[in-house]
Amino acid sequence: MIIDTDPGVDDAIAILMALASPDVEVVGLTSVGGNVPRARTTRNALALLQAAGRSDIPVAKGASRPLRGRYAYAPQFHGPGGLSLRLREPVTVPIAEGAVEFLYSGLTYDLGETTLVALGPLTNLARLLWQRPIALEQARNIVVMGGAVDGPGNVTPKAEFNIYCDPVAAEIVLASGLPVTLVDLPACRQVSIGREEALGLRSEHPLGKLTLDLLQGWFRKGPARERFEFYDPLAMALALDPVVATVAKVDLDVGLEENDSWGETTITGGPGEITLLQQVDSGRFFRLLAGTLEIEGLPAS
Ligand code: BDR
Ligand code: CA
Repeated sequence: MIIDTDPGVDDAIAILMALASPDVEVVGLTSVGGNVPRARTTRNALALLQAAGRSDIPVAKGASRPLRGRYAYAPQFHGPGGLSLRLREPVTVPIAEGAVEFLYSGLTYDLGETTLVALGPLTNLARLLWQRPIALEQARNIVVMGGAVDGPGNVTPKAEFNIYCDPVAAEIVLASGLPVTLVDLPACRQVSIGREEALGLRSEHPLGKLTLDLLQGWFRKGPARERFEFYDPLAMALALDPVVATVAKVDLDVGLEENDSWGETTITGGPGEITLLQQVDSGRFFRLLAGTLEIEGLPAS
């Protein structure tokens, strides 16, 4: 698995899920600007891997700017540094290869074997399509967290953060005909946890403890925060266990009109190449989260 990411509290939890999954080999992370600037998402990726004892996993630096416009950044949600806890400064550095080249070599090395999970703005994937058109076709599966297809957005009334940050890239990826699985906001909102419940969770697993430090830290840093929604962790769950949700096959359009439809995702027809999540089996999601990270006290565990 390769994870394209902008950590981010929920990105970090999703990455820890993959690291704790016995059947998954994480071959690398590629960073992208999004929740915080690219320099910081890259640092967070390295620091998280170090805290998890997995500094052997390479981090390749990706885009610091979208194809058009600017990343919105979300420090109010994730914290000024992008995470809800202080991690030791990484002693490792990103590899010399950039994200596009790393994705190209990773996807074409083991043809049809590598799952790509994209948890941030889609700039790196769009650039890969442009520079190395055949690479994404070699993925075993492409899972993207993004969009608010049939429900309210979280940046504008209809736009979700990852797509809003780089709608041009999103349009390139989602209109490419590639079989992308889209885990959108209405799906993610079906898996959330309240403050009291989250603060009562326990784990003895090192990666489970780190997950809870992130989750509980997020609640402690914001006394008014009442619920945490598992956005990127649901995308990871789908990659690990595709039956965690029902799906529909659709065609999608991404709005590109500034100050109007910017970043909105709309169904234009179907059946199409995009697999869009519908009903999430929240019990199954929480059992997966609890099982991989050995967390006690989750809703269905
Ligand atoms: C998405 O935006 C980011 O803030 C989260 O990490 C997630 O990828 C949710 O809209
Ligand atoms: Ca993210």
